[in-house]
Amino acid sequence: MENEIKRLEEEFQKDFQEASFPKELEALKIKYLGRKSTFTQLFSQIPTLPPKERGAWGKRLNAFKQKITSSLGSAKTQVESKEESIDLTPPSIFPEFGSRHILSIVGEKICSIFEKLGFVTIEGKEIEEEWYNFEALNIPLEHPSREAFDTFYLDLPEKNKGKYLLRSHTSPSQIRVMQGAKPPLAVISPGRVYRPDEVDATHSFMFHQIEGFVVDEDINFAHLKGVLLHFAREFFSDKVELRLRPHFFPFTEPSAEVDISCFICKTGGKKLSEGQKCSVCKGKGWLEILGCGMIHPKVLRACGIDSKKYKGFAFGMGVERIAMLKYGIDDIRLFYENDARFLEQFSL
Ligand code: DAH
Repeated sequence: MENEIKRLEEEFQKDFQEASFPKELEALKIKYLGRKSTFTQLFSQIPTLPPKERGAWGKRLNAFKQKITSSLGSAKTQVESKEESIDLTPPSIFPEFGSRHILSIVGEKICSIFEKLGFVTIEGKEIEEEWYNFEALNIPLEHPSREAFDTFYLDLPEKNKGKYLLRSHTSPSQIRVMQGAKPPLAVISPGRVYRPDEVDATHSFMFHQIEGFVVDEDINFAHLKGVLLHFAREFFSDKVELRLRPHFFPFTEPSAEVDISCFICKTGGKKLSEGQKCSVCKGKGWLEILGCGMIHPKVLRACGIDSKKYKGFAFGMGVERIAMLKYGIDDIRLFYENDARFLEQFSL
C-alpha cells in the first residue's frame, strides 16, 4: 500500500504543476480524492486489514489526503487573487494605424495633376542599361556632362561589366516609351533614382523623380510653359508665377530651370526687403522646382522618331525637393528614417 500511495503522490505532483485554472484544480481533487479514486479504494480496504495495522494506515492515508487538500487549497486562493487583480476597467489598447508615406502622397498628387491633362503614368526601370541612361539621351561617353550624373554600376561578370546601372534619373523612361510607341505621346513617369552622393540634409543616394514629356506635331515651348504653370498653380497655390532661367541639359534644347514665386511670402517673385524673413525662399522670392526643355532632335532620332515631323518637350523634378518646399521640411533624411512622429503629420 505504501508503494501505491507514493506513486499517487508523485503523479499528483506532476498533474499539480501543470494545472493553473480553477477548473483544473477542481478536476484534480476529484481524480485524487473523489469517490472513484484510488485513495477512496485504499481507504475502504482499511477494515479488511489486521486490527493492529489499521491505525497506521488510517494515519498514512489521512496525511496523503491532507497534503492534497492543502496544496489544492492554496493554489486555488492564488489563482483567484490573480483573477481579481486583472483590472477590466482601463481603456483598450488601440492598434497604431500607419499613414501613407508623404513621398507617396506627394508623388501621386503630382501625377494626378498631369493625368487630368491627359498624361499617362508609366513606370520605367530602376536597373537600366547604360545606353538608355546616357547615350540615347545625348550624354555620350567621355562627354563632360556625364560627370554630373555620377552613377552606381552593377558589379556583373566580365561580359556585362559596365552595361547595367541603377538609373541616375528618370529620363531613360522617355527613351523606353518613345521606342515602343508612336506620337502623340503625353507621359508622366515617377520612380526611384540613385546617385553615389554623400548623405546630408539635402542629398541622398536614393531619391525620387518624376519625368514628364509630350511628343507631337507642332509642339512648342509655350505648351511646355503652359503645362508647368498649370501644374505649379494646382500643386502650390493659384497665385504663383513661373520664371524660366536658361540652363543646359544634354537631352533638351533649349533647356531651362524653372522657379516659382514663393508661395509662402507671396511677393510675386520680389525679394523680401531687409528685416523680413521667409524660411522657405530665404527672402529670395523664388524657388527652383524643376528642369525642362524641348526634347533634343538627337534624342527623338535615337528612338526612331522623325525629328522633322515631331517635336517634344520634357521636364523632370525631384519629389523630395517638391515635398520639402511644400511642407517646409529642411532635412531630406526625415523621409527615410520612418519616424512615426514625422510621418503621421501627413496622413491625407
Ligand atoms: N534628368 C534631369 C536630372 O536628373 C532632370 C531633367 C531636366 C529632366 C530637364 C528633363 C529635362 O526631362 O527636360 O537632373
